[in-house]
Amino acid sequence: MSNRPNFSKSGFILATVGSAIGLGNIWKFPYITYENDGGTFVLVYLAAVILIGAPLMMAEIFIGRHSKRNVVDSFKVVGKHPGMAGIWKGVGWLSLIALFFLIYYYSVAGWVIFYLKETIGWSVAGFNKTPAELTENFNAFLHNGNSQLFYSGIFLFFTALILSFGLTKGVEKMSKILMPALFTCLIIFVIAVSSQPGFTKAFEFLFHFDKITSKGVLEAIGHSFFTLSLGAGMGITFGSYLSKSQSIVKSTAMVVFFDTLVGLMACIIMYSIIFSIPEANRAESFGHSAVMLFTSLPKLLYNLPGGTFVAPLFYLAVGFAALTSTLAMGEVFITLFQEKLGWTRRKCAAAYVALSLIIVVPAGLSHGGVDSLAELNLVGDAHKGFFNILDYLVSNWMLVLAGLFTSLFIGWAFPAKPLREEMEEGHGTWKLFHIWRFSLRFILPAGIVWILVSVIQSL
Ligand code: TRP
Repeated sequence: MSNRPNFSKSGFILATVGSAIGLGNIWKFPYITYENDGGTFVLVYLAAVILIGAPLMMAEIFIGRHSKRNVVDSFKVVGKHPGMAGIWKGVGWLSLIALFFLIYYYSVAGWVIFYLKETIGWSVAGFNKTPAELTENFNAFLHNGNSQLFYSGIFLFFTALILSFGLTKGVEKMSKILMPALFTCLIIFVIAVSSQPGFTKAFEFLFHFDKITSKGVLEAIGHSFFTLSLGAGMGITFGSYLSKSQSIVKSTAMVVFFDTLVGLMACIIMYSIIFSIPEANRAESFGHSAVMLFTSLPKLLYNLPGGTFVAPLFYLAVGFAALTSTLAMGEVFITLFQEKLGWTRRKCAAAYVALSLIIVVPAGLSHGGVDSLAELNLVGDAHKGFFNILDYLVSNWMLVLAGLFTSLFIGWAFPAKPLREEMEEGHGTWKLFHIWRFSLRFILPAGIVWILVSVIQSL
């Protein structure tokens, strides 16, 4: 594969950070942390990111850089190392199917675009919505199938368009623009909320220590997979474009650091706003926490100093975060199509749109647009509807299973000597190599099996 491009040094880190930072950090992390009462949940999450997430991300990037192939063939190539059986390529397929299901992500990305449009309109015309009207507005939007398809379709189309420009002119260039823009926005928001009475309470909530339920521990570990884009071929695909002069270890450390920082910043921003409301009114103003980003936050953003400016900027920033994630998702497929089918990037991008519609359409219609999709019940009453079924299967099963097999593959099946050599390329002597390999062999599999057993027990 001599004509394969490479990311530039900052390009790899920014694109990988871009993939990791997304709706997981800004939409999911704040609400699951809120539901699990902050504090200890955050601590467990940090432990999971460091002990499980970071080692697995290094293993994925290793597979990519060592093989310089797409998500499926990489397992074949790395698996052919002398003395290894070739059974591992199924893991590549599993990651790919997980990523295919994950296309439901465009649905929520579409909501962000809708709220960007709404907040621009409200800022221009003057904002005067009551919380009840906002909830009604959101529910009407969810039930409107045409709107759902339109906004998620726009997001998909733009993602594919950028991808068609190529790796360096597409993903890399956009990440270099959007990631600094996102950080600038987040700093503006932190400044805007720092004058709110809830600011210190937000820190207290995040860093107090209390008991945690086993469900909370599971959720924290599961989220460490989702937020770092693990188990879905991203590390492998981006790693396949990483130059040998760059350190896998240091790059991973930076990605994990920035991803965690953004998750915590998103919590500080949202909780500062939430905790500024008197406790008695909180439940009523917040409604269901999973959708608070869309139902209650708009009103609260308008209460901030400079709200007419901050509110649309907030959804713009969330859109940036989501876009760099969908670009990474798309790149995994495009790299695969290019190498398997020999198509041009344009044709691959078009095929990606066609493939994505298979999920985007029913996912968008399952929020109330089409009753049979909204009521679909395959994995229990708690996860009803096409969208929720996919989210459940991906987050609870597929990402963690792919992670388990990847850690077994690199920890047990791949010989230590060439593993160490590749990990030290672009890095120099790596003293923690044995600890890393130990965690791939024991800590990760044990942790993941424990998650799976708990998921099975909860069935
Ligand atoms: N990490 C992304 C987020 O937090 C979502 C994600 C999960 C993802 N798996 C992925 C992105 C694979 C790209 C590739 O929003």
